[in-house]
Amino acid sequence: MRTADASALLSPGSVLKRGGHIPRFSPVAAQSLIHHSLGLLRRWPVRVYDPFCGNGIALCTFQLAYSEYGEELIGSDVNPLAVATTKDNLLIVTNKDEALAAQRDLRADYACTGDERFSRRAQVAQGIVDIIDARLRKGIAATPWRVFEANVFDARQLASYIPPASIDLVLTDPPYSIESKWIGLDGKDVLEEHVNMSLGAMRPLLAPGGVVALAFERSAELSFVGYQKARQVQLKGSRTGYLLQAA
Ligand SMILES: C[S@@+](CC[C@H](N)C(=O)[O-])C[C@H]1O[C@@H](n2cnc3c(N)ncnc32)[C@H](O)[C@@H]1O
Repeated sequence: MRTADASALLSPGSVLKRGGHIPRFSPVAAQSLIHHSLGLLRRWPVRVYDPFCGNGIALCTFQLAYSEYGEELIGSDVNPLAVATTKDNLLIVTNKDEALAAQRDLRADYACTGDERFSRRAQVAQGIVDIIDARLRKGIAATPWRVFEANVFDARQLASYIPPASIDLVLTDPPYSIESKWIGLDGKDVLEEHVNMSLGAMRPLLAPGGVVALAFERSAELSFVGYQKARQVQLKGSRTGYLLQAA
């Protein structure tokens, strides 16, 4: 499986936007989770869903480095700012005009301020334009995508957007209750065990043999009901990646 290395293009300091204080997932970790998941799935193209899409880094990583393996990319988040930021970022990595516009803005910022960081970010934007160009030359289309606002604990809401048994890969970075909090149905922050509840919410959406790949901050007591734990991978920093396959 040969792919572009998306991590340098999507890391903090790249052209991608950040919605307020929403934590950014590491594109290196996302790329590792995608690589292991496609190895487990052994089938593609895949329909991918990130129910905590945040700034959209996981979906942008798939889009930039693995678009030939994608059938559809779906993102949702309870926070409307996250939904808007994910849409903006997916547009930048799929649409050359959007990538060029983002690059022009950075060059204008550099011209106004003389701040070298803007100039470096404009160079990173060129890397994204080059990937889009190379894809166009090879006739590889961007993976179709959609993003919507939804609370993962609201099964009816999720079902109205996603048919049952239609998702091959849930790829996500749930809140760790450190930088970002869980939001329960009543709008309050709820406890970390809700990873288990969200795993339960994902299960009916998964196609047979489908995989959930999630990053967690530390060794967690996850119940894995309805899943077999297929693999555990060490990610960047203190994070662990869990790959769970529908039982
Ligand atoms: C760690 S961030 C995700 C970072 C993201 N993967 C990225 O690449 O930028 C966690 C996200 O979970 C969202 N969230 C918290 N509770 C939620 C819930 N009940 N349903 C859906 N999203 C929720 C937050 O709004 C936040 O954007």
